[in-house]
Amino acid sequence: MSGIEIRNLSYQYPTGSEKVLHNINLNIESGKFYAFVGVNGGGKTTLCNVIRGFIPHFFKGDISGEVLIDGKDVRDWDTSDLAQKMGFVFQNPFTQISGVKETVFDEIAFGLENLGVEVSVIKQKVQEIISLLGIGYIQDKNPNELSGGQKQRVALASIIVMEPDILIFDEPTSQLDPQGTEEIFKAIDIMKKKGKTIILVEHKIELIAEYADYVIVLQDGQIMRQGRTEDVLSHEDTQDYGIGLTQYTLLDLQMRKHNMITERIPITESDSIKVMKEWMSLQGVKA
Ligand SMILES: Nc1ncnc2c1ncn2[C@@H]1O[C@H](COP(=O)(O)OP(=O)(O)OP(=O)(O)O)[C@@H](O)[C@H]1O
Ligand SMILES: [Mg+2]
Repeated sequence: MSGIEIRNLSYQYPTGSEKVLHNINLNIESGKFYAFVGVNGGGKTTLCNVIRGFIPHFFKGDISGEVLIDGKDVRDWDTSDLAQKMGFVFQNPFTQISGVKETVFDEIAFGLENLGVEVSVIKQKVQEIISLLGIGYIQDKNPNELSGGQKQRVALASIIVMEPDILIFDEPTSQLDPQGTEEIFKAIDIMKKKGKTIILVEHKIELIAEYADYVIVLQDGQIMRQGRTEDVLSHEDTQDYGIGLTQYTLLDLQMRKHNMITERIPITESDSIKVMKEWMSLQGVKA
């Protein structure tokens, strides 16, 4: 079976005094985009590390339950097969730069080079990713001399270029300005359209509302809420877990308190306009 299945997963770090993941049950369907959200320390990074097999392959500790990748337990996967199946962008982009390449172009090519891909193919793929992410202007720079935001984009490029089936991004826009952030989301969306499975840890809720298929809310190592993005983010109670709803949802919820009841609660700008127009026409107002 393709996809990721997580069953009754609990985990405690070797140095920890208590569990940081409690009885997690989650199905990740192939080709869909999942956003992991929640307050700091909720277990998002830890859960990503379990999914990519880093826990328990490298990080021991006390693990129970199952994580199946395409039906096979993550512990039974060969680590290099798993690394090709899944690409992971770290929360801290500084840890992702190899340190052995002198230009951004070569840095992005590094992974494909290690796989023994033909040079002309590498060049073409790297060039495509560079234009996709709009980083042509730094392609000849030394990766160690980039700003945090530039490093973050190069780290993302070096993973995307490998075209793994599953892409896990742990806060890939934390150091980016709004335009850079939007570009990353567009690039992730293109990966989704290519059939990739996306797991994204992110706090920027307006963009999650726009792009993600499903939202998983984590707090204290537990899944507090999971479901379709439009369901999770239109629920007033989702705020109880430290998640800020979008301004479109908040406005609609306020309207409801004044007895202005729209047909459904929107989460994005375009949906909000649609819902408002419908509501106004029901009131006999011409938009
Ligand atoms: N290497 C480690 N050893 C022991 N405990 C750890 C380790 N890494 C994380 N933890 C603990 O596990 C819990 C979950 O941390 P995790 O990093 O998964 O949270 P997060 O949701 O990714 O938070 P953030 O939003 O700050 O990135 C926290 O209580 C944290 O202190
Ligand atoms: Mg984290």
